[in-house]
Amino acid sequence: MIIATTIQEVRAQVAAWRKEGLTVGLVPTMGYLHEGHASLVDRAVSMCDRVVASDFVNPTQFAPNEDLDSYPRDFDHDCALLEEHGCHMVFYPAVSELYAPDAATYVEIQSDMPKQLCGKTRPTHFKGVCTVVSKLFNIVQPDKAFFGQKDAQQLAIIRRMVRELSYGIEIIGCPIVREADGLAKSSRNTYLNPDQRKAALVLSQAVALGQRLAAEGETSAAKLVGAMTDHIGREPLARIDYVSAVDGVTMEPVDTIKPGVLVAMAVYFDKTRLIDNFTVEG
Ligand code: PAJ
Repeated sequence: MIIATTIQEVRAQVAAWRKEGLTVGLVPTMGYLHEGHASLVDRAVSMCDRVVASDFVNPTQFAPNEDLDSYPRDFDHDCALLEEHGCHMVFYPAVSELYAPDAATYVEIQSDMPKQLCGKTRPTHFKGVCTVVSKLFNIVQPDKAFFGQKDAQQLAIIRRMVRELSYGIEIIGCPIVREADGLAKSSRNTYLNPDQRKAALVLSQAVALGQRLAAEGETSAAKLVGAMTDHIGREPLARIDYVSAVDGVTMEPVDTIKPGVLVAMAVYFDKTRLIDNFTVEG
């Protein structure tokens, strides 16, 4: 696997692949990789001739009070996992490679979409995500890019950005990978102490509850969200940020549960904020 730290190295390698007529897939990550990330690489390897993963803790998507400095990092482990899953190149830039000190150009969806759900507590987050993903798209110019449904709002926002900025890139959404007991895999799970780790099961339990109610025909978003909220509320270590039912494409709140509705939540365990979600099936 090639380790590239500069934009120029990435461009040169991708150009060489293009000359051979090979297709290129991109898997953007912030590192500290786990089987969730690996599932995106697997999917990319199955659909593209060459796969580039980026490993970059993007400062512009963290607010000053968030965990940028403590965000877990282990590049050697990341390389081992990527190589094992058949990734061809990892792009591992320094912050200075992607952002000039006076950088002032951002990509932002100027609608309510990035203000819903996670945007309520993280109002600048998706501006940082869209900016860095745009940059990665411009640097790698992949045919396809792979994102997890674990970050459902992020996936919907990237799809809209790609459509509205006319990127000729196909966005592939990939299912949530979970631990054996149901907790969605996340680099941030490492912050949890053993008691919080047990308590965190309320997220996947709430997802299972919501899925069951939807399958049983519950059409009231208020009732379904209420039942999930009650379940999480019974866990003393859990502090709910939000539990919401929204349109799966626009992220606008909905009153009625029907196929395509996204039911998403964010829950704090002390300072650690975890997310989970499901989409109502047809
Ligand atoms: P990160 O949190 O590292 O996630 C990278 C990709 O892995 C995202 O598309 C995310 O949805 C996916 N992912 C994470 N956990 C997953 C799981 N349990 N199952 C399936 N997919 C999972 O998301 C980001 O980084 C950043 O915002 C990024 C897009 C890289 C921009 O900086």
